[in-house]
Amino acid sequence: MPDAVMVPDISRTVQKWRNKRGSLIMALHEIQNRYGYVPRNVSLQIAQLMDVPLARIYEVVTFYNYFKLEPPGRNNLSVCLGTACYLKGAPELLNELKSRLGVSEGETTPDGEFHLQSVRCVGCCGLAPVVVANGETLSKVQPSSIEGLIHRCHKEE
Ligand code: FES
Repeated sequence: MPDAVMVPDISRTVQKWRNKRGSLIMALHEIQNRYGYVPRNVSLQIAQLMDVPLARIYEVVTFYNYFKLEPPGRNNLSVCLGTACYLKGAPELLNELKSRLGVSEGETTPDGEFHLQSVRCVGCCGLAPVVVANGETLSKVQPSSIEGLIHRCHKEE
């Protein structure tokens, strides 16, 4: 997690967006892109530097799926729960992943190996149900292929 040494970076980010439209969201985007999540100490610094309540930052971060509050795992698995995927069995895929990994949506396994999340429509509904594994879009995924997917992720490290 970024520590106090990162303060100048955060200041630069805040300066960059300060007078622009949607400045808070843009600054948080930059933080999310940089760290893969929005660390709490960074949120505190942004609140102070932008003079916005910390609660407002958490409102934004929890409203948009894009932002994460926890560090992602070494393997990031996203199950699409958009309508097409939902109707084609995405909830079963999510349940299978939850039970095999022992985590809920939005959580990372204690060993940091896997981060599981759900997302809304990733834009390829014709391939439903879709799982995005470490940035790779997997199509027409079946619950029976989840074990192999987890295995493959382990092997690729
Ligand atoms: S609903 Fe899953 S890709 Fe569109």
